[in-house]
Amino acid sequence: MKIKILTLFPDMFKGFINESIIKRAIEKGVCEIECIDIRDYSLEKHHHVDDTPCGGGAGMILAVDVVVRALRANTNSNSHIIMMTPQGERYSQKKAYTLREYDEIVILCGHYEGFDERIRSFVDEEISIGDFVLTGGEIPAMAISDSIIRLLDNAIKEESHEDDSFSNGLLEYPQYTRPIDFEGMKVPDVLLSGNHKEIAKYRKKEALRKTYKKRPELLDNYEFSKEDKLLLEEIIKEEK
Ligand SMILES: C[S@@+](CC[C@H](N)C(=O)[O-])C[C@H]1O[C@@H](n2cnc3c(N)ncnc32)[C@H](O)[C@@H]1O
Repeated sequence: MKIKILTLFPDMFKGFINESIIKRAIEKGVCEIECIDIRDYSLEKHHHVDDTPCGGGAGMILAVDVVVRALRANTNSNSHIIMMTPQGERYSQKKAYTLREYDEIVILCGHYEGFDERIRSFVDEEISIGDFVLTGGEIPAMAISDSIIRLLDNAIKEESHEDDSFSNGLLEYPQYTRPIDFEGMKVPDVLLSGNHKEIAKYRKKEALRKTYKKRPELLDNYEFSKEDKLLLEEIIKEEK
């Protein structure tokens, strides 16, 4: 997959690209990330990319002509163009699984007061990472790129993300590592038993319990098996 990021601040991505799993994914050829400076597409002598809002008001608005020039120069019929905006669809793990199927994603980062409204006609979708407002789209672009890249083949081991929270509709079960006893807080015996069937049952039950306690609304869309239903009944009794 290729991810192109259109931004006014390409240097913000240096750390993101040069560390940990993302760095290794790029080195292994799992993905390619290109940061494109929107300023390069300004025709003005001083490379202005924005202007004051028509009708008055605070802040500066990214200009449609500059942004569309940048988009046209860096996209083709295979590109899926995403605008980062707090007004977009709320991002989710489900969306990350959808986006990993594209060959090329182009992420448009706003800054200042945001975009000239007409720019919205030139993107395929608008995504928000939550109901709060950041100074720019760079952190949201990193967040969604990271979530997509870790789902690509050979980025990490498949089993590392298949039990992740939200991947199967539940929060992830509790995880432990050594020491087995920390100040009297012990790792549950079943996880040390070597009994894979019992471990799987424990994990399913505790994933259901966590979801029931922390994010019960997720259970509304969860597809319960017969066994899951019985486990949830047990949990509800235990939690009373
Ligand atoms: C200060 S914000 C502009 C917000 C805009 N005035 C509004 O109220 O919709 C500047 C840029 O940061 C990015 N941004 C801020 N919050 C975001 C969020 N929750 N999700 C995605 N992008 C966001 C967008 O690219 C946005 O254009």
